Amino acid sequence: MAGRGLFVVFEGGEGAGKSTQVQQLATRLQDQGRDVVVTREPGGVPTAEAIRSLLLDTRSAGLDPRAEALLFAAARAEHVARLIRPAMSRGAVVICDRYTDSSVAYQGLGRGLGVRRIAELSAWATDGLLPDATVVLDVDPSLGLVRAGRGQTPLDRMESEPAQFHDQVRRAFLDRADADPDRYLVIDAAGGRRQIAAQIGDYIDSLLMRHEQNNG
Ligand code: TYD
Repeated sequence: MAGRGLFVVFEGGEGAGKSTQVQQLATRLQDQGRDVVVTREPGGVPTAEAIRSLLLDTRSAGLDPRAEALLFAAARAEHVARLIRPAMSRGAVVICDRYTDSSVAYQGLGRGLGVRRIAELSAWATDGLLPDATVVLDVDPSLGLVRAGRGQTPLDRMESEPAQFHDQVRRAFLDRADADPDRYLVIDAAGGRRQIAAQIGDYIDSLLMRHEQNNG
């Protein structure tokens, strides 16, 4: 753990309701009087937000997969160095919408670049910073993509990928969680918003309690 802060990541496929749950958790922790930083990937700091625009723009269609993986990693390196580590050092709870598991899922498995290689690239980009907890909001991609607005608003470059790509992404998140159950909370995102928020809130409360005991 870097510094005294707590690093919580939300992962999941398109339309899993991550942003709603990120906000719910942030409000709960702020109401407890905590210093909370809400951020997202790719993005969170100006240079990484610029990389985000490049990556999600449909005009980048056909971007070489290695170039794509390196751009996600570059955005992440800047984000970790400029925002996440400093916030952790001052003792904040950092809540991040997506992190390295998204690269492992989308670039490693979805794009076929290899799970191990992308995990290594991510570890290098972040200088080894791991989340204390990862919440996976699990949703069937066919449902998630409808929720994310497929058929209504224009799709971003990732959302436009075929169903098989999104099935692989889902599998990757579940496999990561299975391999390290102490660090992951998997939630069926088809449930009610309030009930999901309560489940996540209870989980993070008990994690914070243990964290504070360990840090005196
Ligand atoms: P975003 O609009 O934030 O999607 P969502 O609301 O589903 O989180 O767009 C981020 C997209 O970038 C999303 O399709 C996942 C993808 N992505 C990667 O492919 N690799 C990564 O490392 C990250 C962080 C995101």
